[in-house]
Amino acid sequence: MDLFDRLKELRERGLAEIAKANDEKNLNDVRVKLIGRKGELTEILHSMSEVAPERRREVGQKVNNLRDLFNNKLDDAKDNIVQTLVEQRLEEEKIDVTLPGRRMHMGSEHPINIILDDLEEYFIGMGYEVVQGPEIETDHYCFEMMNLPKDHPARDMQATFYIDSENLLRSQTSGDQARVLEKHDFTKGPLKMVGPGKVYRRDDDDATHSHQFMQMEGLVVDRHITMGDLKGTLEMIARHIFGQDRETRLRPSYFPFTEPSVEMDVSCFNCDGKGCPICKFTGWIEVLGAGMVHPNVLENAGVDSKNYSGFAFGVGLDRFAILKYGIDDIRDFYTNDIRFLGQFRKEER
Ligand code: PHE
Repeated sequence: MDLFDRLKELRERGLAEIAKANDEKNLNDVRVKLIGRKGELTEILHSMSEVAPERRREVGQKVNNLRDLFNNKLDDAKDNIVQTLVEQRLEEEKIDVTLPGRRMHMGSEHPINIILDDLEEYFIGMGYEVVQGPEIETDHYCFEMMNLPKDHPARDMQATFYIDSENLLRSQTSGDQARVLEKHDFTKGPLKMVGPGKVYRRDDDDATHSHQFMQMEGLVVDRHITMGDLKGTLEMIARHIFGQDRETRLRPSYFPFTEPSVEMDVSCFNCDGKGCPICKFTGWIEVLGAGMVHPNVLENAGVDSKNYSGFAFGVGLDRFAILKYGIDDIRDFYTNDIRFLGQFRKEER
């Protein structure tokens, strides 16, 4: 076969191969094979010595034309392949705007967190700081600093989970009082803090008791703090959470770390004070303990009880939530049933 025939044959075969290539890799292989540095066209050029000198020019021309032709066809083929790919993608990823939308499931906050956030914001607004004590607390802070020496009978008021003789799962957030009192610098101003968090007790689980629940401790200490300040503060909290209509009452009580001590009850959400199983037929539900800080607690933390006085309270946040939302079983808060939890929404204030 002379060079002209080889060129002719290559032209036809090459065009056919280009037309057949169906993806970019294939096409590239064809390109290398036809016009690459070691491709068939180059090979033909190398055989130029076989051609009579006067025809070499013509052969050279033909080789160049064929290279241009191949180049053009290869470029066209590549454009086509890319175009087809794009169309395929568009087809596959087509969005049907007439399909019904997928429902987005909105999370909701835990009812206790709703109350907690609300109260925190409320207290911050009144100049309180928010502190967080450890859930694994020491006997020292949880009890001894709080005027509850070892084997004090009042320790039985809270069935405590002990880890060892010094460490326990705190049964009250009152240890936060001692921790903050110890550190506070009264030359910089009064102490006003709230300390929310989990507490644990070996109570039997029933509809109003759980072995774990949430408390919010509160403490205000300054010169001239009185029982009137405490009463005003407690009434404001109750109004803030329950509105104007729900009734509250203060009852005398006993806590080793306050003197005098009170407990606050809120009228039962279920029977509105008439008496029912939820309020144990008293018409009232106890929501917090409070009182004037015992001088021993101040002195234990190095605060001069002659010149400083204060009030403290411990709010049962679960009880607040029960009353606010009319929930009849405290254990619902901790069983993570989404049907229960999804019912609560933060009020826009
Ligand atoms: N720590 C008490 C309790 O858990 C509540 C309380 C706090 C009472 C602060 C008085 C002052 O029952």
